[in-house]
Amino acid sequence: MRVLVVGGGGREHALVWKISQSPKVKKIFCAPGNAGTAALAENVDIAADQIEALADFAERESVDLCVVGPEQALTLGIVDLFRKRGLRVFGPTAQAARLEGSKVFSKDLMRNNSVPTADYKVFDDPALARAYLQNKDRIIVKADGLTAGKGAYVCRTREEALIAVEDIMEKKVYGSAGDRVVIEEFLDGREVSYLAFTDGKTIVPLEPAQDHKAAYDGDEGPNTGGMGAYSPAPLLTPELQERVMAEIMYPMVEAMARAGCLYQGVLYAGLMIDSSGPKVLEFNARFGDPETQPLMMRMKSDLIPILDACIDGRLKRQSIQWSDESAVCVVMAAEGYPGKYAKGKEIFGLEEAGRQSGVVVFHAGTSLADGKVLTNGGRVLGVTALDDDLPAAIKRAYEAVGKIKWEGFHYRKDIAGRAGARGQ
Ligand code: AMP
Ligand code: GLY
Repeated sequence: MRVLVVGGGGREHALVWKISQSPKVKKIFCAPGNAGTAALAENVDIAADQIEALADFAERESVDLCVVGPEQALTLGIVDLFRKRGLRVFGPTAQAARLEGSKVFSKDLMRNNSVPTADYKVFDDPALARAYLQNKDRIIVKADGLTAGKGAYVCRTREEALIAVEDIMEKKVYGSAGDRVVIEEFLDGREVSYLAFTDGKTIVPLEPAQDHKAAYDGDEGPNTGGMGAYSPAPLLTPELQERVMAEIMYPMVEAMARAGCLYQGVLYAGLMIDSSGPKVLEFNARFGDPETQPLMMRMKSDLIPILDACIDGRLKRQSIQWSDESAVCVVMAAEGYPGKYAKGKEIFGLEEAGRQSGVVVFHAGTSLADGKVLTNGGRVLGVTALDDDLPAAIKRAYEAVGKIKWEGFHYRKDIAGRAGARGQ
C-alpha cells in the first residue's frame, strides 16, 4: 500500500512514524514533510494547501490512501477533490470541516442541538462588538475563521477585549478570518482534548490527551498552536468520558449527518471541565498537534485499518488497543514564537536525544541542508517519551530535551506537571 501524508508538522511526523509500522504499508510520501519525515518517507515538495497539485501527485504515484493533517487543506476541500477524482482519502469534506473552519457555524450547531458550550454572541460590525463589551471584563473574543490556534483572545479586562476586536476586525491580523467575531463568556476549569474517529455514525474515541496552549510556564503568555501534550489525561475520568460521548460527540455527529454533511475523520473536541461537567471550547476537524505525538506513541493497534474503517463506514466493528503507559511530548520552539521568529538555525544533539530508549524526537519546523538539520518554523521539535506513568515519562522527556540545543530555543518546563505531580 502507498500512503500520502499531507502536512509538515510534528503531527504529520507522528502519523508517518506510526503508519511506517504497519505491515500493510510499502511506501510513504509526505507533502511537504520535514527533516524528520524524510527518514521514514519520501518528502514531496508540494505545500499542504496546493490541493490540485496533491491530487495530481496522488494519481501519478498510484497512492492508495491519503491522510490529511492540517485544517487548511480540509477547509479548501481536499477530501472533496480527491473523492471526485476517485482517490481514497481520510478526513472530512469542506462542508463538514466547517466545524473547525467557522466558529460561528460550530457554535450555532452546538446551540441548536443543546451541546454544552459557553454562551456567545456573533458580530460582523466592530462598533456593535465594542458596544456589547460595555461593562464586561473577563471575556473571550475569537476570530470566526482559521488562525493557526492564535485567534482566541482570553481577555481579563474590557480594554484587552477592545484591543482584541481592533486586532481581529479592524487591523485584520488574521485576514478575512476576522470578518466576524464570536464573543463568549469566560469558562473556568481545566482543559482536555478529546479526539475520536468517526465514520459519520459510529464514534471510537482515542485516549484522552491534554495540550498546553499558552506559550509560557504556568499557562502565562499568548496562545500558541500547543507547547506540549500528554496522555492519558487523568482529569477525564471514565464517567466524564461517557458524558462527553453522550452530550457532545454523538449529538454533533448526528447533527452533522442531519444537516447533510456527514462527518468522517477525526473529530477533536477541545473541552473545558468545570464543576457542572464538560463544555466545548472548540472543535477541530483533524488530529491535534501536539496531541497526536503522545497518542501515536501509546496506540498499539495498526492505524491503517482504523482509517480504512472510517472511510468505508465500518467503524462499528473496529476497536483500538492502547498501551497502559503514559506519553509526554515537550515542544521546543524558536526564539520569538508565537510571534516573529528566525529560521535556519542549526540544531544540535538530535541523534543523542533520539538514542534514549522510550524517546522519539518528532520534528515539526525543521529542514535538511547539507546533512545538517535546521530550524524552519515556530514549533521546531516535539520531544516525546513513553514510560510507566506520567512522572516517569516527564522525566524521560526532559532528559532528552536537555540534550538538544540551538540558538534561542525555548520550551515550557511544566508540561504534564499538574497531572504528573498529583499523580492523578
Ligand atoms: P480555541 O481556539 O477556541 O480552542 O481557544 C483557544 C484557547 O483559549 C483554549 O484552549 C482556552 O485555553 C482558551 N479559551 C477559549 N474559549 C474559552 C472560554 N470560553 N473560556 C475560557 N477560556 C477559553
Ligand atoms: N493542539 C491544538 C490543536 O491541534 O489545535
